[in-house]
Amino acid sequence: MKRFALATASSLAVLASTSVMAEPQAEVLHWWTSGGEAKSVAVLQEEFAANGGTWTDMPVAGGGGDAAMTALRARVLSGNAPTAVQLKGPAIQEWYEEGVLADISNVAEAEGWDKVLPASIAAHMKCEGTWCAAPVNVHRVDWIWANADVLAANGIEMPTTWDEFNAAAEKLQAAGVIPLAHGGQAWQDATVFETVVLGLGGPEFYKKALVELDPEALTSDTMVKVFDQMRTLRGFVDENFSGRDWNLATAMVMNGEAAFQIMGDWAKGEFLAAGKEPGKDFLCASTPGDGYLYNVDSFAMFDVEGDDKRAGQELLAKLIVAPKFQEVFNLNKGSIPARTDVALDKFDMCAKISAEDMATSSENGSLLPSYAHGMALRGAQAGAITDVVTAHFNSDMSSQEAVQQLADAVANSY
Ligand code: GAL
Repeated sequence: MKRFALATASSLAVLASTSVMAEPQAEVLHWWTSGGEAKSVAVLQEEFAANGGTWTDMPVAGGGGDAAMTALRARVLSGNAPTAVQLKGPAIQEWYEEGVLADISNVAEAEGWDKVLPASIAAHMKCEGTWCAAPVNVHRVDWIWANADVLAANGIEMPTTWDEFNAAAEKLQAAGVIPLAHGGQAWQDATVFETVVLGLGGPEFYKKALVELDPEALTSDTMVKVFDQMRTLRGFVDENFSGRDWNLATAMVMNGEAAFQIMGDWAKGEFLAAGKEPGKDFLCASTPGDGYLYNVDSFAMFDVEGDDKRAGQELLAKLIVAPKFQEVFNLNKGSIPARTDVALDKFDMCAKISAEDMATSSENGSLLPSYAHGMALRGAQAGAITDVVTAHFNSDMSSQEAVQQLADAVANSY
């Protein structure tokens, strides 16, 4: 009995030392493949390698991550989950409910994440009280980007209302400039749509319609006006917009072919990667109206076998939330750190506006989760809304018909 106990104790010691000695491995599934995104994820790859880790990259191209999520499902269903996955919002909870996520509470507790993350962000990272994801940033979605020279040449200021936006766009169109650089992919239509919902309806309306899915809000006159504005915006995009990637739309603004893009601040990552300067080459302003739509990127670890993989998950989680990484990564990515204790001295004016507006909106209740970027709703509900938004944008469907379809699609999505 004593011998057995001894043997058990010594094999436990061996086990413990293997996991300490194990060389950290991580296969990382993500969708960061554009210029600015690739530069950002490289920061993590380099830090991981510098700390003795071996990174196996699994990039799945496609802005917004739809293709990446399809690839993830296939991998998990075949019993071969990647070690770490770019995953966010309610999708984290959905995977947790499938019983396939690893618990990273030991790292979170050792590193004191609760003390350095805003409660609203920490809440997305926890599954029934345990930590199940690590946040890298806060992206703001409700931005307009503009080519500074194009606006100046046409005597146009950054619009502060949707009417001003429409007037500016008409003037630009008359001058032969494409007013709005847009990529006709469902998630990009949804991105523009949610900024219009926030802008025309206000924060309360946004919450009722796109967070609480209140049928009255979905079929309201305000929502009719939102679809009217989407139809107006459709008239401001060029005829080749279908299927275009978001970063190619950003490039159109960069090279002066188009004046504006409505897109989250990962677009800023593209401008910066191309050597463009905010305030000089390009301008940023929040889309018209109050409020702030947040989109927090994070990584979840999947339940995998092997000390090396588990060591990789722990190392990754630790690096991701560490202050140094949060600074360097976000300087490249266009977002701001998720941690509240990282100084913004090195960040540009757009990032500073984002941080200030985030603080104000958090105080006055207008800090809201982006539905288009998977922060507000579960996949089925978000997908139902996006289908209608895209169908409307790509047809001559009336706004009345769109709101009816919207309410029906949501009702049938549960
Ligand atoms: C978002 C993601 C961002 C960004 C964008 C385009 O959903 O949160 O990090 O990269 O997609 O791919």
